[in-house]
Amino acid sequence: MRVGVLTGGGDCPGLNAVIRAVVRKGVQEYGYEFVGFRDGWRGPLEGDTVPLDVQAVRGILPRGGTILGTSRTNPFADQGGERPGVERIKDNLDGLGVDALIAIGGEDTLGAATRLYADGVNVVGVPKTIDNDLGATDYTFGFDTAVNVAMEAIDRLHTTAESHHRALIVEVMGRHAGWIALHAGIAGGANVILIPEKPFELKRVCEYVEHRFQTRYAPIVVVAEGAHPVEDDLAVTGQGVDAFGHVRLGGVGQMLAGEIEKRTGKEARVAVLGHIQRGGTPTAFDRVLATRFGLHAIEAVHDGAFGNMVALRSTDIIRVPLSDATAELKTVPPEQYAEAEVFFG
Ligand code: F6P
Repeated sequence: MRVGVLTGGGDCPGLNAVIRAVVRKGVQEYGYEFVGFRDGWRGPLEGDTVPLDVQAVRGILPRGGTILGTSRTNPFADQGGERPGVERIKDNLDGLGVDALIAIGGEDTLGAATRLYADGVNVVGVPKTIDNDLGATDYTFGFDTAVNVAMEAIDRLHTTAESHHRALIVEVMGRHAGWIALHAGIAGGANVILIPEKPFELKRVCEYVEHRFQTRYAPIVVVAEGAHPVEDDLAVTGQGVDAFGHVRLGGVGQMLAGEIEKRTGKEARVAVLGHIQRGGTPTAFDRVLATRFGLHAIEAVHDGAFGNMVALRSTDIIRVPLSDATAELKTVPPEQYAEAEVFFG
């Protein structure tokens, strides 16, 4: 059996740990051969491969990023050629003698995997994203690392904010889900946490900020990049779209800093964490989760359980249909946000 492996979409810490586990178990227990595809769906579309054996995966467990490279290539978008992407992928897999594919990715990569499976490609999915917004799994790897990076930044910003009696706004990633903001904000003792799931009132945010100054602490406002104000005229519009049609988010932190300064008369600065949250070495939690996902993904290939994704349910790794994986975005429920509200102001 020859198994292809690809990593698609935004990278995240733990991708290499999955690749390592897939290859180690596949070679040692099943005697499989592997083919690495470069840069997400671009690899199988163009037949662009990289050798993938036990030697190639040595020493990669703690490394961030992905040794295979990634891209946001959408195989179902118009590729400009004569034949549709799906046919090119099938021909390339046949030509390379690849019997099955392990696709490691988020909503978009797994959405494409779902469609390819329906078109007859033997695919098993592995969920990844720092956003933790995939419905069918309790957690995705990468999330814990991103939260820890953001928490450490918040800890550092507390001390400088207090020295200068400033408000500091921390803008974190997460796209349309507020998980990173919520967890980092709770762990870092934020003055207020703003998430996409609940539009915020600027007046209320300024009241929290002022209250924190009155109690002689400097406020830290954690805002998710996808959060937006109730007031439409203050909404920040994204810049451009990717191949899957997602708007590039960002800018809400800057808007908040300006409004807070204007309305409270206090100095406010913004720190946009951006891709710092996606880079670097994975936490122990993410290494273990990624490793377990990899082991179970290759087991699913061995069982012929194609069209499935591995997922974390409580402490168990289970299989769920790929179609369930992307059916619904997992957002922060109001009850969980309410838990954090106790600490606002
Ligand atoms: O989905 C992961 C993520 O990091 C989001 O949190 C963010 O909105 C997006 O990717 C950024 O994408 P890019 O790396 O293409 O700018």
